[in-house]
Amino acid sequence: MSTAQNRAAPEHVAIIMDGNGRWANARGLPRALGHRKGVEAVRETVRAAREAGIGFLTLFAFSSENWRRPEAEVNELFGLLKTFIRRDLADLNRGNVRIRIIGDRVRLRDDIRELLLEAEDATVANTGLTLVIAFNYGARDEIARAAAHLAAEVQAGRLKADEIDAQKLNDSLDTAGIPDPDLIIRTSGEERLSNFLLWQAAYAELMFVPEFWPDFTPEIFYAALDRYAARDRRFGGIAPSALAIGS
Ligand code: FPP
Repeated sequence: MSTAQNRAAPEHVAIIMDGNGRWANARGLPRALGHRKGVEAVRETVRAAREAGIGFLTLFAFSSENWRRPEAEVNELFGLLKTFIRRDLADLNRGNVRIRIIGDRVRLRDDIRELLLEAEDATVANTGLTLVIAFNYGARDEIARAAAHLAAEVQAGRLKADEIDAQKLNDSLDTAGIPDPDLIIRTSGEERLSNFLLWQAAYAELMFVPEFWPDFTPEIFYAALDRYAARDRRFGGIAPSALAIGS
């Protein structure tokens, strides 16, 4: 049976939490209840990630495309993030969890922006799990903002255009200082990245599980970690076994 400790844990797991709406629809409930149940799955997953010794857990909580949803649902998602931070911050702090937020904060309301900053500041010295919350996040937008930042550096004379390389772009992303995800999990059976961590996903293992996000449990998480541990990651090289045969 899968438990928290019986495998080599990936350093960084990122999750596309999909299927809250379908979970609710299947039960004849309003979509908002699916999102609320989704927050419980967030708490359980953070606990499971800590127990498994994972360094970074990134959760896709609100995409830059989610603004297209009805205003009431957008407000619900904002409200849930606010409540989560208010209610869980002390617990997360006690658990040595550091919070980082990625995404564009410019379009966010002042109260949300301040709360996100407060959560980051309050946990900045924590050395356990880093919980990265992707909020108003879109990978293309993140890459475009990084490119604009580098262009401004060139314009100001602090950088030469031909000094721009993959490392400099990487260091200008919201995820600067965070290692690339080793494993990206998407729930609900959909098999796409939907503008999530496109740059950082270059060598990530992708895993798609059929359960809707509110039904995601530590057991499903640990089973995914087991499947990850069995994968052969080559980063463009060749497997050591193939090297031995060829020599
Ligand atoms: C996808 O389900 C889920 C979201 C767009 C939001 C995820 C948000 C939470 C779980 C709650 C807030 C998060 C935190 C970190 C406190 P969907 O609505 O797209 O489902 P559907 O595809 O079935 O309609």
